[in-house]
Amino acid sequence: MLEIKDLTVEVGGKEILKDLTLHIERGEVHVLFGPNGCGKTTLLMSILGFPAYKIIHGHIIFKGVDITDLPTNERVKMGIGVAFQNPPRIRGVTLGDMVNIAQGRSEAVIDESVIALADKINIPAVFLRRDVNLGFSGGEVKKSEILQLMAQSPDFIMFDEPDSGVDVDNIELIGGIMCELLDRHKLPSKRKRAGLIITHSGFITRYIRADRAHVMLDGYIACSGMPDEITKNIMEEGFEKCVEKCSAR
Ligand SMILES: Nc1ncnc2c1ncn2[C@@H]1O[C@H](COP(=O)(O)OP(=O)(O)OP(=O)(O)O)[C@@H](O)[C@H]1O
Ligand SMILES: [Mg+2]
Repeated sequence: MLEIKDLTVEVGGKEILKDLTLHIERGEVHVLFGPNGCGKTTLLMSILGFPAYKIIHGHIIFKGVDITDLPTNERVKMGIGVAFQNPPRIRGVTLGDMVNIAQGRSEAVIDESVIALADKINIPAVFLRRDVNLGFSGGEVKKSEILQLMAQSPDFIMFDEPDSGVDVDNIELIGGIMCELLDRHKLPSKRKRAGLIITHSGFITRYIRADRAHVMLDGYIACSGMPDEITKNIMEEGFEKCVEKCSAR
């Protein structure tokens, strides 16, 4: 589904990603850990193709197509979706408008289907008439991001800290929807989806089974392994020791 080869990316004149290589197969969910500022969000933004993230060298291959130079809208059309860590507030565009846009509908109506979708993630209908993320609480912002993904239903889904600032009940709700979105077991193999989840606590992996976990340090993948083992090592001993254990194997 996604192959990243030797990717080096510069942001604001500084090299952030360094020869990063990552391979995610159809049907797989990967988890990405790493200290603050190591480049996790930069990786997501580079996969999405935002112009501020300048690719110095390397390639991003999606569904067998080299998308390294493709504009963001083309990448989204090919089936890449994201729940942002810090999504923008958009004055003048309502959450209902965003759901309609994500579903590819031109008419800006909040009908029963939109209300029912929002209800699945416990977002009251009144929120659909509010400007996106304007005055939303931290947890509401996270749920609004998931709702937009539910509407878009992309093949490759990236979640940037979907569990941060979310209470236990809502983490369970979000985890359930993430499982449903990735829908790995029901779809035939050619239509299977894939995901990449960035998390600090690893809490969300209680609700969604991941196939592989990675630790990023200073812009490169320093260690990869089984999610349970990596999560345990990080929580008990921190990133550096986890990576040391990985390389000692
Ligand atoms: N536009 C920018 N100009 C300058 N530096 C930037 C810019 N965007 C990101 N950076 C820097 O790039 C580094 C990586 O940032 P990034 O957001 O990818 O980290 P992260 O691993 O997602 O961290 P966190 O866990 O805190 O979310 C940081 O040092 C950040 O300050
Ligand atoms: Mg980040």
